[in-house]
Parts: sequence; structure tokens; C-alpha cells
Amino acid sequence: MADMHSAITGAIGALKGPLHGGANEAVMKMLFEIGKSGGDPVEYVKSLLAQKKKVFGFGHRVYRTEDPRATHLRKMSEQLSKDSGNTKWFDMSRRIEEYVKVEKKLNANVDFYSASTYTTLGIDLDLFTPIFAVSRIAGWTAHVIEQLDDNRLIRPRAEYTGPEYPVKYVPMDQRLI
Ligand SMILES: CC(C)(COP(=O)(O)OP(=O)(O)OC[C@H]1O[C@@H](n2cnc3c(N)ncnc32)[C@H](O)[C@@H]1OP(=O)(O)O)[C@@H](O)C(=O)NCCC(=O)NCCS
Repeated sequence: MADMHSAITGAIGALKGPLHGGANEAVMKMLFEIGKSGGDPVEYVKSLLAQKKKVFGFGHRVYRTEDPRATHLRKMSEQLSKDSGNTKWFDMSRRIEEYVKVEKKLNANVDFYSASTYTTLGIDLDLFTPIFAVSRIAGWTAHVIEQLDDNRLIRPRAEYTGPEYPVKYVPMDQRLI
């Protein structure tokens, strides 16, 4: 029975971070880094994969085909880059996408082309995740209302497979987080 504001604050917290709502920021940081070094985008990604690192903006927990939002954002990014006369970020993205698709069989997700789209629109990195959050507020609000309309608790079942008693207590400041 939390109020609407608390529920939406919780949703914003869950959106945060580079694996979810912060992925487009991570994509743009990667593009900026490649741009600054003047290196080849494909070589950059090859080296990420060789180090077993993730390439932000690819993969999805649910979609195994192309994220339908990526299809539209790719078009927008291309059009905006042509209109603005700076196709650098789009061209770089396209080469990375082609390589990751062949090499890892991973599709671009919503975050991949939203990075170059936002940058071409002149939007600062710090606003990437907040824009994503704003666009989700209507949906989150609907979920909260729907839940409150028929307030049955959602309790996913889980089987604990972690270490069993007796487990040595390790003080918080000595843990590796
Ligand atoms: C979104 C994401 C968390 C979904 O994860 P998932 O479906 O649970 O997939 P997993 O993390 O279990 O990955 C499955 C395999 O694909 C690889 N993989 C998935 N996404 C990858 C990526 N973006 N770059 C490189 N490898 C990736 C994993 O390393 C793993 O390989 P392994 O089996 O050899 O260990 C994941 O794809 C990811 O971290 N993507 C990058 C962050 C991102 O763009 N997030 C925005 C999502 S809209």
C-alpha cells in the first residue's frame, strides 16, 4: 500500500545502472572514447570482447530478435545525423552493430541508437537516463494503479541455494562489494 510517489521512486532506482536505463550513457561514453582516440570502432569492440567485457547497447533479457525500438531509433539517428551534417556517431554505431551482430549474434537494443540520437539532438549525457525515466512514468503509474485495483501480493518463489549455517560473519567494511 505504498503511495504512488514511493512506488515510482522505487522504479527509478531499478532503472538505474549501465545494464538497464543507464546503458545509453555507457554507449555514448564508448563512442566518445573511440572518437577521441581516433581508433577503429571495430578494433575497440574486438578488444572489449577479448577481455570478456560487455558491449553496452546490445542484448536483451527478453527480446531475442531486434528490439523494435532499435529499428526506429536507428532510422532517427541516421536521419538526424544527415540533417545535422555530422554522421560520425551514426557511422561508428553502424560499424559496431554490424560487427557485434556477426561476431556475437547479439542485436542492438533500445539504448544503442538512442545514444547517438540524443547526442545529435544536443542532449547532455547526464540527461540520458532521466529522459528514459520520464518516458516510463506513464507506464509505471498504470502498473501501480492496476496493482492497487486488485491488490494481490506478487510473491515469486525461490529456492535458496547459498551457503548454509554455520556461516562466518564478515563485517561490512571487510566485504568485497
Ligand atoms: C541486457 C542484458 C543484461 C541481458 O542479459 P541476459 O539476457 O541475461 O544475457 P546474459 O547476460 O545472461 O548473457 C548471455 C551471454 O551473452 C553475452 N552477452 C549478453 N549481452 C552482451 C553484450 N552486450 N556484450 C557482450 N556479451 C554479451 C554474455 O556475456 C553471455 O555470454 P556467456 O554465456 O558466454 O557468459 C545483457 O545483454 C547486457 O548486459 N547488455 C549490455 C547492457 C545493455 O545494453 N543494457 C540495456 C538493455 S535494454
